[in-house]
Amino acid sequence: MFKQSLVLSRQFTRSLATAANAKPSLVKSFKIYRWSPDTPEVKPKLVSYDIDLNDCGPMVLDALLKIKNEQDSTLTFRRSCREGICGSCAMNIGGRNTLACLCRIDRDTSKDLKIYPLPHMFVVRDLVPDLTHFYKQYKSIEPYLQREQEIPDDGKENLQSIADRKKLDGLYECILCACCSTSCPSYWWNQQEYLGPAVLMQAFRWLIDSRDQASAKRKEILQNSMSLYRCHTILNCTRTCPKGLNPGRAIAEIKKQLAFD
Ligand code: SF4
Ligand code: SF4
Ligand code: FES
Repeated sequence: MFKQSLVLSRQFTRSLATAANAKPSLVKSFKIYRWSPDTPEVKPKLVSYDIDLNDCGPMVLDALLKIKNEQDSTLTFRRSCREGICGSCAMNIGGRNTLACLCRIDRDTSKDLKIYPLPHMFVVRDLVPDLTHFYKQYKSIEPYLQREQEIPDDGKENLQSIADRKKLDGLYECILCACCSTSCPSYWWNQQEYLGPAVLMQAFRWLIDSRDQASAKRKEILQNSMSLYRCHTILNCTRTCPKGLNPGRAIAEIKKQLAFD
């Protein structure tokens, strides 16, 4: 008898604690770009979804997953790592290109949060941009180590000094999310020929790698009026990079190298 009343009293205390911890709901409206290739005659539109922020993780990706899981399973977006490494959740959130998994939800519920796919790209569906051309451009700069003799005579690694390795800091961390390129007005208007900040930063990364021996060829790829020189140093790219990198500076460094050749 005593044991039973002890259990009941514990249960009562626990339910009181749960009630005290329950936060009132904090509902925010998310307006999300929707378009489907299955109904091409229907124009793209913003669809509104309400979410209780007290029942959701802190990041925009958490909200998108909650909408997909609980309200509308047809909502389409890319994501994989949920920690800013894969670059697949890049989108335009509240007017800025960034990664949904690294972007905190603004808890001011008086403002809607508008979410679009990366700007000035063809759309595959909803928040998924078509990155085929972007990857083709990346491939065009031959982003891999090139040497006359790939494996040194001793059969070991191609060594690099600590100082030379340091030159790659701030460049190798790029996750190719395309936030910078799709925020660049020059890229919007000249996308077919201008390589854009993301790809140019990788071109620079290979140009200054002390182990690489293809710098003459790499410079030749860039030495024309469109591939590199459409950059007018507007610096939207550097401002938007969710990894805090500086593609604008890398482009300026390439221009310097080509000028003094
Ligand atoms: S430089 Fe920054 S914004 Fe541009 S692709 Fe790399 S990580 Fe993304
Ligand atoms: S500096 Fe400006 S023009 Fe150049 S790549 Fe960046 S955003 Fe584009
Ligand atoms: S899910 Fe990988 S960067 Fe956001």
